[in-house]
Amino acid sequence: MVKILAIESSCDETAAAVVSDGNSILSNIIASQIPVHRLYGGVVPEIASRHHLEAIVPVVGEALSAAGCEFSDIDAVAVANGPGLVGSLLVGVSYAKALALALNKPLIAVHHWQGHLHAIDIEHHLTYPYLALVVSGSHSGLLLATEQGNTMLGCSHDDAAGEAFDKIARALGLPYPGGPEISRAAEHGNREFQHFPRAWMEGTDDFSFSGLKSAVLNYLNQQRMKGAEPDQQEICDIAASAQEAICDILSAKAVAAAQREGVAAIALVGGVAANQRLRQLLSERAGAVGITAVWPSPVYCTDNAAMIGVAALPKYAAGDFADLSLNAEPRLAII
Ligand code: KG4
Ligand code: ZN
Repeated sequence: MVKILAIESSCDETAAAVVSDGNSILSNIIASQIPVHRLYGGVVPEIASRHHLEAIVPVVGEALSAAGCEFSDIDAVAVANGPGLVGSLLVGVSYAKALALALNKPLIAVHHWQGHLHAIDIEHHLTYPYLALVVSGSHSGLLLATEQGNTMLGCSHDDAAGEAFDKIARALGLPYPGGPEISRAAEHGNREFQHFPRAWMEGTDDFSFSGLKSAVLNYLNQQRMKGAEPDQQEICDIAASAQEAICDILSAKAVAAAQREGVAAIALVGGVAANQRLRQLLSERAGAVGITAVWPSPVYCTDNAAMIGVAALPKYAAGDFADLSLNAEPRLAII
């Protein structure tokens, strides 16, 4: 039985997992830095890399012991080498290289978004071709996944969907990370309170969320100029209206692309895939035209190392190994 130790440190989560054949997750440990970065309203790169340095050894140790493994049981070491914050990536990449060298085991480099894509394989068995909506804090894209590989159909030209959630939350005075906070506030809000603009990017599978962010900021500024600070209810209403705009665009465009490409399923992956309203709208709209929409459990939506390990399994089988010149690639090109 193959056992891969996977490491993920591209942003503010230090994560390690042991995965085995058949996408079986033997352990999945995540040390989150959210409480630290929350003090600053967002991720502070220098602080993130320092915390990765402190966390990486205990997190890997915990992943091994939760899987009932020793270092000597590991067949390969996988690591997300980009894209992400360079200082954060460097900790995972340097650790993985040193470990692979010390254990004399293969090193496998995994693109972070390839990891998000493979997160769907942990709990679902999709048949090719299918459409993937990859939505995280750093990326929004629509991909056609086929047996021969993935084709990027479209992506965000400015803010990623998660970034839009985070920036709108910040404008509303909600803490970092904004996505879960907007989602919680929206539960008590009226999604028809404001019809914020939707950039449909007609004729393309691309997205744009900066106009929506500006519309929310403008609305708040206009209210403030009238001397009206939003109260709790209005914050919930704006959160619900902004969330509706983001989920409306993402779900409508994903379903339209899936229909055009003639696929039977849409995989919703990445941190924003944890959003309940997005799941609901996507499944309603896809279901209405006979398309199935699936997503991973929340723990496999946001950054984790299990998805990196699952993405590494086919690379292990193919002998697609990295050498010790592997580097952290903050702007690693899209897969
Ligand atoms: O995939 P991820 O953990 O990290 C990146 O690769 O960027 O995604 C993090 C993003 C953040 O922007 C966060 O606000 C968003 O995912 N997010 C959510 C929810 N949970 C996390 N956005 C909307 N609703 C959620 N429930
Ligand atoms: Zn991610």
